Amino acid sequence: MSSIPVTRLRRFRRTAPLRGLVRETRLSLDQFVMPLFVAPEPLANEALPGMARFDLDGLLREVDDLAASDVRALLLFGVPAEKDEEATGAWEEDGIVQQALRALRPRFPELVLLTDVCLCEYTSHGHCGVVVDGDVDNDRSLELLARTAVSHAEAGAHVVAPSDMMDGRVGAIREALDDHGFDATPILAYSAKYASAFYGPFREAADSAPAFGDRRGYQMDPANVREALRECKIDLAEGADAIMIKPALPYLDVIRAAREAFQAPLAAYNVSGEYAMVKSAARAGWLDERAAALESLTAIKRAGADLIVSYWTKDLAAWL
Ligand code: PBG
Repeated sequence: MSSIPVTRLRRFRRTAPLRGLVRETRLSLDQFVMPLFVAPEPLANEALPGMARFDLDGLLREVDDLAASDVRALLLFGVPAEKDEEATGAWEEDGIVQQALRALRPRFPELVLLTDVCLCEYTSHGHCGVVVDGDVDNDRSLELLARTAVSHAEAGAHVVAPSDMMDGRVGAIREALDDHGFDATPILAYSAKYASAFYGPFREAADSAPAFGDRRGYQMDPANVREALRECKIDLAEGADAIMIKPALPYLDVIRAAREAFQAPLAAYNVSGEYAMVKSAARAGWLDERAAALESLTAIKRAGADLIVSYWTKDLAAWL
């Protein structure tokens, strides 16, 4: 028997146009979301430009740039001037994110404005909910999360994205939005958000590291995938319009499992640590940032994500 193969997969790999004809996964800017941090004082970040903080003026300039490069969607995070036990800065009418929304919405009517709904940037202790007797109290946190989501919608958010991981938050937010006339505002639930070591650079940018303990009492155990599917299922039953897996690269199997189990739009968050690892390795001369970023983002899509939140969204606009 001849060892010369009849089937030669290399035939379609010979040239770029041949490869293009059979490519299974493509990146397109209209499925990318750029996270942005807004704060009373700007804070540049040369090493990790995606983790810079903007004040309102700086934000408008940055978004001018993003819109001009055809970025379609933003995810806003706020760093308030003051933090307290009730996370007042998260839900007050003139909170920093609410101000940003009111400035952005009329100026960039074509941009999709998403907001992260969580309390950790706004609580004095840095936890994602209300702390009672040293513990994050699930049900007491729901009311503040719902209030935060409504205030974002009132200020002009198109989509609210709860990232707190309290049980029942999607239902509480859906009910509050509907009660306030925002029945058309979608919820993108961070359904399977893991207690991950890859959030480090974010917590510095957002000044949201917990002052005591960690988030393992509410975020998911990295070892679990069936539990992620239960989280997604519950969020969808409570009215989530889209679900999210976070982080992305260490959890491609979870993205794939969610893709196969659910029909809803599926998002993945390519988090700060994933971005920082590539950035620092590129700075050391060990790998090419653009190639590594495009490969990472393609892998996330190939695993089954529809939309991707990534700090590379701005660069992607130039690369594609
Ligand atoms: C808020 C929140 C976090 C991230 C998104 N929303 C941090 C955390 O849970 O500690 C992380 C995003 C990133 O690392 O890029 N709860």
